[in-house]
Amino acid sequence: MSAKGPRGPDEGALGALAVLRGLAQAPLLGALGYQLRRRQWDPRDLDLDLSDRVCLVTGASSGIGLAVARKLATQRATVVLVCRDAARGAAAVSEVTAAAGHGRVHLELADLSCREAVRALAARTADRFPRLHVLVNNVAATFLERQLTPEGLERTFATNVLGGYHLTRLLLPRLLAAAPSRIVHVGSAVQYLHRLDVDALVSPPQRYVGEIVYGHSKRAVAALNHLWVDQLEGTEVSSTCGQPGLVATPGVAQTFPRYHRAIGRLLRDPDQGADTVVWLAASPEAARSSADLWFDRERHPEHLFRWTRTEPDEPKRLWARCAALCDLPESLSTLVPATRSR
Ligand SMILES: NC(=O)c1ccc[n+]([C@@H]2O[C@H](COP(=O)([O-])OP(=O)(O)OC[C@H]3O[C@@H](n4cnc5c(N)ncnc54)[C@H](OP(=O)(O)O)[C@@H]3O)[C@@H](O)[C@H]2O)c1
Repeated sequence: MSAKGPRGPDEGALGALAVLRGLAQAPLLGALGYQLRRRQWDPRDLDLDLSDRVCLVTGASSGIGLAVARKLATQRATVVLVCRDAARGAAAVSEVTAAAGHGRVHLELADLSCREAVRALAARTADRFPRLHVLVNNVAATFLERQLTPEGLERTFATNVLGGYHLTRLLLPRLLAAAPSRIVHVGSAVQYLHRLDVDALVSPPQRYVGEIVYGHSKRAVAALNHLWVDQLEGTEVSSTCGQPGLVATPGVAQTFPRYHRAIGRLLRDPDQGADTVVWLAASPEAARSSADLWFDRERHPEHLFRWTRTEPDEPKRLWARCAALCDLPESLSTLVPATRSR
C-alpha cells in the first residue's frame, strides 16, 4: 500500500490537485450530488437478476443497511439481514420481504461489537449457507462518550472495525466457496481527515471526541480493505470500500439531532446513500475494476491530504492486532495459499 508522502514535484502537484478536487466535490456528498451524478450512470448496471446469490448485510435494521438489503432482495437475491434487536430485525425483514415479493429474506441477530456474538453468527451463517456471494460490512456507529464493551474493548473500535474484520475472516471460506464473490465495506468521506494510528484506534486517548474516534475508525476500515485486496489477490473474492455520501438516517438523526434538523433536507435519503454499496455488491461493471475505494460509482483516491499518510507497516500492524484480538492467525495462508509469500 502506498503510505509514503509525495516524493517529487509531479507527485506533489498531483496531491494538490487531488485536494482541490476533493474540496470541490464536498457539496456533492449530499442529495444534489446524487441527482447530478446519476445522470451519467447506466440504469442497466443495476437492472439485475440476483436469484442465484446469497448476500449478507450487517446493520440491516435501519438506514443504509436496510436500503442495501431491500435493493438486493428486490433483485431477487437471498438476503440475510444481520440486526441486533429482535423487534427491529423482524420489522426490517417484513419490510424487505414485502418490497421483494419473495420469502428468501432471513434474519440473524448479533451484536457486532461482541466477539462471541460474531463467532456464533458466523457459525450459524456457515451452517445455513455453504456459499456466500456478497458480504456487506455496514455496521458502524458514533459514540459521543467513551465506552467499553463487556469484553473490555473500546466500543467504536469493536463495533466499526473489529466486528467487520472478524466476520469477514470467519466467513471467508464461504465466500471462497461461492467465488466470484464480493466483500463490500461501508466507508465514509471523513476518513480523508484522519491518519491511521493503531494504538490510538484500539485505545483512544482519555480526551475522547466521538466524531474524531469515528473518523479514525473509518480510516481503519479503508486501510484494512486495502490489505484484504492484497491478501485476496489471485482469488475470485473482491474487496471494496464504498462511501455513501451524507445521508439522512435514523443513526444520524439520533446522534446529531441539530445537524439533522438543520441540513437534513440537503442530505441523501437511505436509498441514494445505498447506491454505491449496492453497485459494488452486485453490478457486473464493478466486478471489472480492481480499484478499492468508491463513491458514486467512481474510483476515489486513498488520501487527499499528505498528513493522513502513515508508515507502510501501520495497516499491517492493525491487521495483526485485529487477528490477535479475534484469536485468529495473522496469515490467511491456510485458506488462500498464495498469501504464504506475502
Ligand atoms: N449516514 C451518513 O451520513 C453516513 C455517512 C458516511 C458513512 N456512513 C456509514 O454508513 C453505515 C450505515 O450508517 P447509517 O447512517 O445507516 O446508520 P444507522 O441508521 O445508525 O444504522 C446503523 C445500523 O447498524 C446497526 N448496528 C449498530 N451497532 C450495531 C452492533 N453493535 N451490532 C449490530 N448492529 C449494529 C443498527 O442497529 P439498530 O437499529 O439496532 O441501531 C442499524 O441497523 C455506517 O458504516 C456508517 O459509518 C453513514
